[in-house]
Amino acid sequence: MTSKKNDRTSRIPLIVANWKMNLTASESAAFAARFISQIQPHAEALGTRFEVAIAPAHPALDRLGRALEGSKIQLAAQNLHNEESGAFTGEVSLAMLEDLGCTFALIGHSERRHLFGESNDLVAAKAQRLEGSSVCPILCVGETLDQREQDATLAVVDAQLAAVLDATGDGLASQLVVAYEPVWAIGTGRTATPEIAQTVHAAIRKTLVSRLGEVGHGTRILYGGSVKPSNARALLSQPDIDGALVGGAGLDPDSFAELALASLETS
Ligand code: PGA
Repeated sequence: MTSKKNDRTSRIPLIVANWKMNLTASESAAFAARFISQIQPHAEALGTRFEVAIAPAHPALDRLGRALEGSKIQLAAQNLHNEESGAFTGEVSLAMLEDLGCTFALIGHSERRHLFGESNDLVAAKAQRLEGSSVCPILCVGETLDQREQDATLAVVDAQLAAVLDATGDGLASQLVVAYEPVWAIGTGRTATPEIAQTVHAAIRKTLVSRLGEVGHGTRILYGGSVKPSNARALLSQPDIDGALVGGAGLDPDSFAELALASLETS
């Protein structure tokens, strides 16, 4: 299943679990069974009033994809290499993700940027690889605490966005999802207030519209950073918050289901 192309009406809330380096393939299948049973009463709204995707570690993609078959819950990858194929030991290509039925791939997650040294240029090269493919990029952007304290939030986020938008064209614009994740809020239990998040989301929207025109109005901008069932509603009710990228709270099927269903109340 491919996600809708961006237009003004396509901002259906999208809730994505990023499992990071957690859960084995067997554990992913058990998660899927429980999660599907929790979502089941609202299955008819899935894909029309809200969308859900799960990004497991690469070894669990195949097993989880099979466990999700027929559920309309989408499969996402946490990363991919920018080259098409070749001698890149330990890496994963776009063709491999397409073959497994991935709908989305995260690019530029802050852990990739800060722990693995990924630059804006490398993230842009990954976006170029995804352009026009069946896998939509979820481009993660966000500032560190230092950068926020120096009032550099919007400059940092703009540079991260510009690197990708400069390197790609209309093909990417129509499939792009952006995730704003302040680095200081990731895994810390410290969430941006809905107002702080909305201010940055509105700035991202402005940049997207000025760079992409009408398509920018339809681009989904997710918020990420310690999102949990208790704060999801307030965040998702903001006008430019179109979903959530969820780490810790996405590891438990019950809390992830509660969080995903919260998006229905705000859609
Ligand atoms: P968190 O992670 O929800 O555990 O803060 C979010 C993310 O890294 O995408």
